[in-house]
Amino acid sequence: MNDTAVKIEQVVEHYDRLADWSEVKEYYGGSDYLNFGYFEEDTKTQKEACENMMDQLLSCIADKSGNILDVACGKGATTAYLLRYYDPESVVGINISDRQLEIAQQNAPGVSFHNMSAMEMSFADESFDNMICVEAIFHFVTRVEFLKSALKRLKPGGSIVFSDMLMTWEGENRRQRRTTENFVPDLESYRSVLESIGFASVTVEDITEQSWRRHYRHATAYFHEQFLAGKLTREELSQRLHETYGRVPDLNYYLKVCCTK
Ligand SMILES: C[S@@+](CC[C@H](N)C(=O)[O-])C[C@H]1O[C@@H](n2cnc3c(N)ncnc32)[C@H](O)[C@@H]1O
Repeated sequence: MNDTAVKIEQVVEHYDRLADWSEVKEYYGGSDYLNFGYFEEDTKTQKEACENMMDQLLSCIADKSGNILDVACGKGATTAYLLRYYDPESVVGINISDRQLEIAQQNAPGVSFHNMSAMEMSFADESFDNMICVEAIFHFVTRVEFLKSALKRLKPGGSIVFSDMLMTWEGENRRQRRTTENFVPDLESYRSVLESIGFASVTVEDITEQSWRRHYRHATAYFHEQFLAGKLTREELSQRLHETYGRVPDLNYYLKVCCTK
C-alpha cells in the first residue's frame, strides 16, 4: 500500500477546484460533467461524449422503473441525465462536497442529494432498484468494500453500472487520490474479484479506445486550438498537455461494468 492513502479532504479540494473553473466548464460545453466520456466515431464534443457514456451505462439497466442512486454524482450533470428516465423523487445523489452538491441541486431540481461518502452509505439494505457511478469508484478505499456495501443496498435483481479506470501499480502508487489497494493487473482478475463479491451476473467491457484514448485526442487538440486562438498562453498550454501526457503511461484500462444482484 502507498503511504499517500486517499485523503478525502484532498479529493474534495481537487474536485471543488475543478468545479468552479470556468475553463473546465467551457471544455465540457457549458455542462457540469467531469469524465472522459464515450466517443463514438462521429462524436464531436466532450459534452456529447459524456451523454454517450450515460447511454452506454444505462443500456445495462433494462428495467428503468423504481429508484436509482447516483454515487459520486459530481455536480449533478449525470443526475440530471437520469431525469430523462426517472422522476426526481426516484433519484438520489451522493457526493462528499457541499459545493458540488449545491450545483447538483440546481442541475437536478427535486432530486434528494446527500453529503455522504460512498464508503459510509447510511441507506438501509435493499433500498435501491439500481445504482450508477461514473468515473469515481477508483477513489473509494476500497473498490471491493464499496461494491460489497452496494450489493447489500440493492434490491434483488437490481444492477450497479459504472465506469472504472485501472492504472499500473506505479500509477496507483504515485498518484494522489488513488491507492495501490485498488490495483488490479488485468481484466480476468478484475472480473473474478467482482464475481467473488457475490453479484449474479457481471459484464466487463474494455472501452479504453472509446473513452480515454479518444478523450486524449480530443482534449489535446482542443488545448492547441485554445492556444492558437490566444486563449491559452504557452505556459498554460504546456501545463495542460503535461498533465494529459502524464496519464498515458499510467492508464491501463478504462472499463464499462455492469453487475446484477
Ligand atoms: C471524476 S468526478 C465524476 C463526477 C460525475 N460522476 C461525473 O461523471 O460528472 C469524481 C467524483 O467523485 C467524487 N468522490 C470521490 N470520492 C468519493 C467518495 N468516497 N464518496 C462519494 N463521492 C466521491 C468526487 O467528489 C467527484 O465529484
